Amino acid sequence: MLALFPETARIENGELTVGGIAATELAERFGTPLVVYCERSLRERARLFRAAAPEALVVYGTKAFANMALLRLLAEEGVGADVSTLGELAYARAAGIEGERILFHGNNKSDEELRAAAELGALVVLDALDEPERAASVGVRRALVRVTPGVEAETHEAIRTGHRGSKFGLDADDAPEAIRRARAAGIEVEGLHVHVGSQLADTRAHLQAVELLADFAARAREELGWAAAVVDVGGGFGIRYVLDEPEPPLAELVREIAEAVRQAWARRGLPEPRLILEPGRSLVGAAACTLYTVGASKQAGDRRYVAIDGGMSDNPRPQLYGARYAALLANRANEEPAEEPFTIAGKHCESGDVLIESVSLPVPRRGDLLAVPATGAYTLGMASTYNGVPRPAAVLVLDGEARTILRRETVADLLAREV
Ligand SMILES: Cc1ncc(COP(=O)(O)O)c(C=O)c1O
Repeated sequence: MLALFPETARIENGELTVGGIAATELAERFGTPLVVYCERSLRERARLFRAAAPEALVVYGTKAFANMALLRLLAEEGVGADVSTLGELAYARAAGIEGERILFHGNNKSDEELRAAAELGALVVLDALDEPERAASVGVRRALVRVTPGVEAETHEAIRTGHRGSKFGLDADDAPEAIRRARAAGIEVEGLHVHVGSQLADTRAHLQAVELLADFAARAREELGWAAAVVDVGGGFGIRYVLDEPEPPLAELVREIAEAVRQAWARRGLPEPRLILEPGRSLVGAAACTLYTVGASKQAGDRRYVAIDGGMSDNPRPQLYGARYAALLANRANEEPAEEPFTIAGKHCESGDVLIESVSLPVPRRGDLLAVPATGAYTLGMASTYNGVPRPAAVLVLDGEARTILRRETVADLLAREV
């Protein structure tokens, strides 16, 4: 089970510790629900990407969790930011990331967003045929063109993005026109972008997309006299959420894709492009776990419910994608599990507010601490205040020290927006 937790997680005297601090101490000091990020795991993941693709620009898919402390820490490891809204751009900017290391995405960028990206000198990823002129008119000078490769990645359909009919990017038939328009408008089109989907366990979809992109690049050179100097293959590398899933061999996947790009370009006689990678989940997902306090328990039909003090407001992934999670009792981590499994329910007014359908645990008691691993990506970043529940805090732990990187929202914060 510890294999799913951040690198520094241990069981000491029957208790879960992360970053050298007992989960019970973290819960006492910071309250629950609490998302605990491990600094060592974050740095290790960033270094893994940098080592596997030393020539590539690695940018963090900020949507996984927009947080200044995380962006700063990743920037210290040489990682930039992929943003897709004015808000995410503001996080990257506040974290001190320079425009050269920022990519601006979005299938519906506002003029304000394009202008802000231009002012910072960010690389704008063009996503629609009318965007080049709009971008040029507010000062955008550097861009990539996002191509929809028509690849069906093997993942939940809600996080598939490179298939035919996707709302993202331009079909290969339309993309040349976007390149032509952008260049005519005075934008330097540095290269091509593709993102096939998220939570991918292998490189099949990436490799297919690379071949299609290389074909496209070869045609574009012939027909437009334009060469892609940059190839951005997006993010999408998966992580392990439960023990019956294999751990995606991240370094291997990254090396394989970098090599595939080199070879695909070389085979077509194209000059080697600069690679950009946009990992989100694989940088921060496995670096965190969430601590919840156990409340009510009840038997309902053949289910044994255990309710926690959070749920779909701090982690909507089970409802969005049928995501699965594991858990352990952080304060009684060595105790034998009960014979029958438990269903972990949230506290929200929806029957579907179930965090884990079935998990084996020692019989949980009110006040116990439930620790759920692999909650660093697309959880707090997607959090809501449903049922008037304020959003949780996040802390960063290292060598026995913990610091708040996102303060807990309060009911007063919620009321402050009311008029
Ligand atoms: C364009 C783009 N890049 C990068 C990412 C990050 O993906 P992941 O978290 O799967 O690595 C996403 C996620 O949706 C994306 O849309």
